[in-house]
Amino acid sequence: MKTLEDLKALREKLKGDIKVRQKQGTKIIIGMGTCCIAAGAREVMSAVLDELAVRKLNDVQVQQTGCIGMCEKEVLLDVIRPDEPRITYGNVKPADVKRIIADHVVNGRIIEDLVVGKIEQEG
Ligand code: FES
Repeated sequence: MKTLEDLKALREKLKGDIKVRQKQGTKIIIGMGTCCIAAGAREVMSAVLDELAVRKLNDVQVQQTGCIGMCEKEVLLDVIRPDEPRITYGNVKPADVKRIIADHVVNGRIIEDLVVGKIEQEG
């Protein structure tokens, strides 16, 4: 039986591992505010999950977020690769998802014609 101290130490170690993994992994964030959903965010989310599954990209995290104030550019999809700028794609349709995942998520090539925002990440 482990002592309480052992368990606390294990918990701290696991927390550290999770932080490292979160920092290292690629993230896809989809705007799922009310009018994002009306603009087709659910269909885009579903296309993302399908494509990641087909390509077995199990280490890509998918998150949703609320309104970010760019409702006129929905559906909004951000890609964050480790140590690279956060790229926001706008007017994303389910048909764009394969290209975003193949070109940007897998190969690191930003799809300039869909970009509506770019944020440098802090190191
Ligand atoms: S509700 Fe989608 S960006 Fe505002």
